Amino acid sequence: MAEALRIGLAGLGTVGASVVRVLSEKAAELTRQCGREIVVAAVSARDRTRDRGIDLGAAKWFDDPVELARSADIDVFVELIGGDEGVARASVKAALEAGRHVVTANKALLSRHGVALAEIAEKKGVLLNYEAAVAGGIPVIKTMREAMAGNTVSRVFGILNGTANYILTRMEAEGISFEACLEDAQRLGYAEADPTFDIEGHDTAHKLSILTALAFGTKISADDIYMEGISNISQADIQAAGELGYRIKLLGVAQRTETGIEQRVHPTMVPTASVIAQVHGVTNAVAIETDILGELLLSGPGAGGNATASAVIGDIADIAKSRPGFQHGPVFGRPAKELKPYKRARMRTHAGGYFIRLTVHDRLGVFAAIAKRMADSDISLESIVQHAAEGEVADQKTVILVTHETTEAAVRKATDGITKDGHLTAKPQVIRIERAG
Ligand code: HSE
Repeated sequence: MAEALRIGLAGLGTVGASVVRVLSEKAAELTRQCGREIVVAAVSARDRTRDRGIDLGAAKWFDDPVELARSADIDVFVELIGGDEGVARASVKAALEAGRHVVTANKALLSRHGVALAEIAEKKGVLLNYEAAVAGGIPVIKTMREAMAGNTVSRVFGILNGTANYILTRMEAEGISFEACLEDAQRLGYAEADPTFDIEGHDTAHKLSILTALAFGTKISADDIYMEGISNISQADIQAAGELGYRIKLLGVAQRTETGIEQRVHPTMVPTASVIAQVHGVTNAVAIETDILGELLLSGPGAGGNATASAVIGDIADIAKSRPGFQHGPVFGRPAKELKPYKRARMRTHAGGYFIRLTVHDRLGVFAAIAKRMADSDISLESIVQHAAEGEVADQKTVILVTHETTEAAVRKATDGITKDGHLTAKPQVIRIERAG
């Protein structure tokens, strides 16, 4: 049997502890599958004294993860520290430069420095595996990188943040507040250290930027993502969506258009009957549309220690099965040096249907004024309904419009005009509708 594969693991939080536990519990099975033993040879974390409920056995302790990354005692450096700079970046770079394979779950790091790190890995002939960075336990990176060779992708979209989906699911099912749901998500270990990352769409954007590179063969461009979070989604939106046959999901969408590639993260109305609308709680889903395959939808656990550990261990096992001298495939599906520059499509040209919720003064002529602004912007309406305003406020009404396909520019022109007309008592709420099977 080949020599044992020695792991150096930096970061012993929820995911790190799960990785150590599963490697130990499944040691015999993993050895059978990989043809060699996988041992945790060294570890590094912030606090040496904390009881994590795991047995670190004879693993050597390093206070400095960069020192661990360069250590001759390891074959693979597993980075579970997090963050796009600091020791996470320094240690991954150091490991690759020292010719160590790297496994990371760090989407923020890859979204900012992924291409530069991939160039080092490819030059050194080592693997940089990152399955856990996108959609937790779902093997979407392997699928896009390996199983879809030759396919031309037109759109990739998905529910990429378990915390946001958990919050929206519970808000809809139980009619409870955003804050209560967030607290539970944090307690259950789904949320990022700073939950704004989950709620305001940053985490989804990091993951989407990686999928975009894999889908379109472009350089990663996380700064070119249009982003809106879910913190201003109210019960009024959730209920109106339900009445109209939609459900609200925080989606990340990357799509090829005539003017470039759209990358957007925002709350989205998807038809209640669509498959992606059935993805509840902390579950993630990724839909990929291609010329050869048609539409593929992968769904599964997107957050939490064990789900993420499953992806990390899959990446480690791939390295354990690889043999010295074997040429590894490129990190992002195409050689990093050959990734094309990213060409951004302007958000104003985005085409689709829109849900618009207006809170208006209840007076003569308001409906007519709204309808005129829509017509002046060439927006054709699918439906327009009036409700009592949220909280049954006297002299106010809620008007809900659903448009046929139009453009972002037209919707902004119409809502700016309606705002100027002085009939609104609150900012218009605009939610994009996404085509989904
Ligand atoms: N906070 C992330 C989520 C965890 O809620 O999906 C995995 O990236």
